[in-house]
Amino acid sequence: MWKHHAKFERNSIVLAIGILIAVSIGGLIEIAPLFWLESTIEKVKGVRPYTPLELAGRDIYIREGCYTCHSQMIRPLRDEVERYGHYSLAAESMYDHPFQWGSKRTGPDLARVGGKYSDSWHKDHLIDPRALVPESVMPPYAFLADKDLEYRDIVAKLTAQQRVGVPYTAAMLENARADLETQADPFASPRDLKARYGDKVIQRDFDGDPNRVTEMDALIAYLQMLGTLVDFKTYKARDAENLR
Ligand code: HEC
Repeated sequence: MWKHHAKFERNSIVLAIGILIAVSIGGLIEIAPLFWLESTIEKVKGVRPYTPLELAGRDIYIREGCYTCHSQMIRPLRDEVERYGHYSLAAESMYDHPFQWGSKRTGPDLARVGGKYSDSWHKDHLIDPRALVPESVMPPYAFLADKDLEYRDIVAKLTAQQRVGVPYTAAMLENARADLETQADPFASPRDLKARYGDKVIQRDFDGDPNRVTEMDALIAYLQMLGTLVDFKTYKARDAENLR
């Protein structure tokens, strides 16, 4: 056997082909089963597609590069779970295109920031982070409160998400504009919005200015639902009852 080994060591092309074969076998064994495994992402009760307002907020989060300082993935390590809450489940980001796991934490992880603070805390913090956290290095985003949310293209946004696998229904696409306006309007009837996206959808005036829908409304609506979809009081991994 060692005799043959010399052939590989002395001829770089034979060595390269040998490496390619070895790596391909390893890669196939690791990657191929994922295409057939039904349970690669375990379905979990409560996970739903983003409402149009949350999706618009998520786009602002991406546009402003919040992900360059904030991750959205709590790892199953004791210090992380004690600080941020239950570790993130794959299902919780199954409708994220692109996902926002991030790779840098200049600021804290945001995977479960929903419900941690009030809307007005978020608004004040985004307008001037140092007014609330004096040592913060987060940049201010005050302009979001002055900018009307541009949502003429909201149906196209939902359609794009649908094309990559998010199960938006025809009714969700058709009513995307109305649903967006309803969610930011505390006086509108939430009946249709909740029928489409579930009872837990938060409907209120997020930015304290009920007369208009601003980018601040959308971003806070998004932040306030992060990590709140799964009820961890009842969730147990691989519990049949959690399967839809
Ligand atoms: C330059 C890095 C940086 C950027 C970019 C950034 N942040 Fe932060 N963020 C921080 C730091 C540092 C903190 C911790 C101090 C503080 O609370 O201000 C923080 C804190 C936060 C908190 C409070 C988290 C908690 O659990 O206390 C939220 C919410 C937040 N950021 C949202 C955002 C959003 C939304 C954006 C984009 C519009 C953004 N951040 C952009 C650095 C950043």
